[in-house]
Amino acid sequence: MGYRYIGSKVKVVDNVIGKITEICPSKGRVADLMSGTGVISTELRKRDYKVTANDLMTYSYHHSIVNLKFSSSPKFEKLLNFISNIYDLDIELSPYENVINFLNNIKPKRGYFWNEFSYEGNPQNTERPRNYFSPENAQKLDGIREVINNLSCDHIINDLEKSLLLHDLIMAANDIANIAGTYGHYMSKLNGRALTELKLKCTELFLKSDVENHIVMQGYAEENANKIQCDLCYIDPPYMKRQYAANYHILETLARGDEPEAIGVSGLRPWRDQYSNFCTKTKIRESFKTIIENMECNNFLISYSEDGLLSIEDFELLLSNFGDVNIETFSHKRFRSNNSSLKNELVEYLIHLQC
Ligand SMILES: C[S@@+](CC[C@H](N)C(=O)[O-])C[C@H]1O[C@@H](n2cnc3c(N)ncnc32)[C@H](O)[C@@H]1O
Repeated sequence: MGYRYIGSKVKVVDNVIGKITEICPSKGRVADLMSGTGVISTELRKRDYKVTANDLMTYSYHHSIVNLKFSSSPKFEKLLNFISNIYDLDIELSPYENVINFLNNIKPKRGYFWNEFSYEGNPQNTERPRNYFSPENAQKLDGIREVINNLSCDHIINDLEKSLLLHDLIMAANDIANIAGTYGHYMSKLNGRALTELKLKCTELFLKSDVENHIVMQGYAEENANKIQCDLCYIDPPYMKRQYAANYHILETLARGDEPEAIGVSGLRPWRDQYSNFCTKTKIRESFKTIIENMECNNFLISYSEDGLLSIEDFELLLSNFGDVNIETFSHKRFRSNNSSLKNELVEYLIHLQC
C-alpha cells in the first residue's frame, strides 16, 4: 500500500530532481531539509549526489537511515544467534527474511496500542475506545514493539538494524490502519484493509558503498541550518495549517517506541515539542529567513503549492530580499483524504533562490 503522506513528492519526483540536476549538474552535496518519507533523498542518492537529510519527526529519521545508510544486506548476526534457540530459522532465507518472519510470529500482547488504539481497550483519558487498529493487529503491534525495544536495549540489534525494523513496522502499520488518510482521526467502523492481518515485509534496500557521503539529522530546520553546508538546499515545507506531529502521532509513537499519554478523542501524544512554524502564516517568513541566513549555501529550491498559507506573490517578495528568484509552475494530482472535497488538480511551484 505504501505511504499516504501529506505533501509527499512521490508523484512529482521527476520535476524536483530535474530541477536539482539543472541547478547542480556536477553533483555535489544537496540537503533535503524537510525530508518526510525520503523520496527525494533516495532519488538523489541514486544519482550520485551526497545527501544531507533532515526532518523534525522521528519516523522520518528512521526512513532516511534506511534510504541512505545501507551498503550491504543486514546480517543481524547477534539477533540470529539469539533467536536460533527459540525459533526455527529457514536456511533458504536471508538473515533479514528470517528476522522479519520471526517478528511476524511474535506472541501478541494486550499492551498500550491495544488499550489506547483498539475498540477493545479502556483508554486512560476518554470514555470511548478508539478504533485505529483491529484488536488483533493492535496486540501484534504491542508484541513486536516490545521485542524491538528489548533487542535494542540489550544491544542484540545495532542502531542501523533498529531503524530498519522500526521502518518496516511503520510501513506495516500504515497498511492496516483504520484511517481515511492521516492519523488525525480513525474511522468509526473497521473497514477493508484494517481487517487484514498486520504483516511486516522486507524493504527492498538500495545498496551502495557510498554511505559515508550521507548525513541524517533530526530536528528543526531553523536550528540545524547552521550545521549544514551544501551546494543546494531543497526545502519542502508544510503548506497548510495541518501539523505533521498531530496528523502522524501514531507513527511517531511507533518510531520512538514509547508509551506517551494519549489525549482526547484522537489519542494524540503531547506533540508541542514538534510544532512547526511553517503551519502558521505569521511565523513562516521568520523561519525561512533564519534558514537562508544561517546555512552555508547559495542555492535554495523550494516546493510550494497554490494551497499554501503564503501566496506565491508573498513568497517571491520574501525571497527576493536574499537574491534572484525564479519560479516554475506545474500541476499534478493532489493527496486527498478519502472524505476530502478538494479539487483533484493542484498547481505546484518550484522556487529557485540564488543568493
Ligand atoms: C511536505 S512534507 C515533506 C514531504 C517529503 N518531501 C516527501 O516527499 O515525503 C513536510 C515535512 O516537513 C517537516 N517539518 C515541518 N516543519 C519542520 C521544521 N521546522 N524543521 C524540519 N522539518 C519540518 C514535517 O515533519 C514533514 O515531514
